[in-house]
Amino acid sequence: MNKIIVTGGLGYIGSHTAVELSKKFQVVIVDDLSNSSIEVLDGISKISHLKPLFEKLDLKNKENVKKLFDRHNDAIGLIHFAAFKAVGESVEKPLKYYENNLSSLIYILQEIDNRNLSFNLIFSSSCTVYGQAINLPITEEESIKKAESPYGNTKQISEEILFDYAKTNTKINITALRYFNPIGAHHSGHIGELPLGIPQNLVPFITQTAAGIYKEITVFGDDYNTPDGTCVRDYIHVVDLAKAHIVALENLIEKRNQDNYSVYNIGTGKGLSVLEVIDSFIKCTGVKLNYVIGKRRAGDVESAYADNSKAIKELKWSPKYSLDDAILSAWKWEKKIRNI
Ligand code: NAD
Ligand code: WQD
Repeated sequence: MNKIIVTGGLGYIGSHTAVELSKKFQVVIVDDLSNSSIEVLDGISKISHLKPLFEKLDLKNKENVKKLFDRHNDAIGLIHFAAFKAVGESVEKPLKYYENNLSSLIYILQEIDNRNLSFNLIFSSSCTVYGQAINLPITEEESIKKAESPYGNTKQISEEILFDYAKTNTKINITALRYFNPIGAHHSGHIGELPLGIPQNLVPFITQTAAGIYKEITVFGDDYNTPDGTCVRDYIHVVDLAKAHIVALENLIEKRNQDNYSVYNIGTGKGLSVLEVIDSFIKCTGVKLNYVIGKRRAGDVESAYADNSKAIKELKWSPKYSLDDAILSAWKWEKKIRNI
């Protein structure tokens, strides 16, 4: 089996991708556990019945990255999830975000370059690069505006680094996937999202409130120009998102890509409001959920959902799971980790 390195492979999206990837590839997970726990490795093993190779290693150390490529000089590709992702924290600590998110990427590219490798690389980008798009649904052609946060800026800069580098090296094949809002967990209940501290994202806040950790959830504003006044997003099941990485990687390996750098939106193509997500939770689980309408959250865009037709056409990928599937899997995971 061909070997693929998965950086940040014990994190939320990386762990689900490692499970899917291990069906077809030998997987090497790299993680420094800065935002994950070693137990996730057991969860991955339970689902895949395989123990992936694991390297506990900090990628913002250039020497570590060199050693990683020395040890796995037979790898044919890498999926780069490792990054810090808390938008609010990135405003408070911009240097922490620029250092980690950019240096890790640059060191990886330098190793590929120094070794003159024929290599396939998938990069985790984000719909955050679009900000409030002018055109909805959002295509990959939408203009990129000034980033709202240092975190968002690291994704924009990373894409530029990849674009510029790809022009200089025809032996590298790169795809950046712009994820919309990943939610849910593996249906087995063995892996899921593990937010540290107070969750910033909607679905973990809903499930933690339902689990009794918080009294109520605040809906951040109901005076937007949307059908019910609350913000609209494109919520994609994390397993559908994980599967997009496999097809994108195969597309590169089989050299079906037209350019050696391309970007794809990965979303469902459907915009859903905050209240629709809350209603789905209440309807599917039958669990009581207290919510109040509060003020708008600074930095929130009104509406963002993907035009995913490029991924459907070129990657032959399409999302399979509904919002209700994702909500039920998130609730199953929450109950498991809280022993409910
Ligand atoms: P996550 O925090 O759960 O996973 C990231 C993993 O990378 C963690 O396990 C962390 O320990 C590890 N890591 C961070 N810095 C590292 C370093 N220097 N060396 C080694 N390991 C390191 O995040 P996630 O939600 O799985 O996101 C994965 C990627 O997808 C990130 O690049 C993120 O920016 C991007 N993304 C996430 C979302 C989302 O909503 N979750 C949306 C769009 C894009
Ligand atoms: C979704 C909706 C909130 C919590 C973030 C990042 C983005 C990307 C995906 C990484 C919004 C509302 C939320 C709550 C609420 N990540 N909400 N009450 O902001 O779309 O995107 O994750 O790249 O960069 O910014 O996701 O889950 O935080 O919010 O009303 O307690 O839920 O206002 O409309 P967001 P989210």
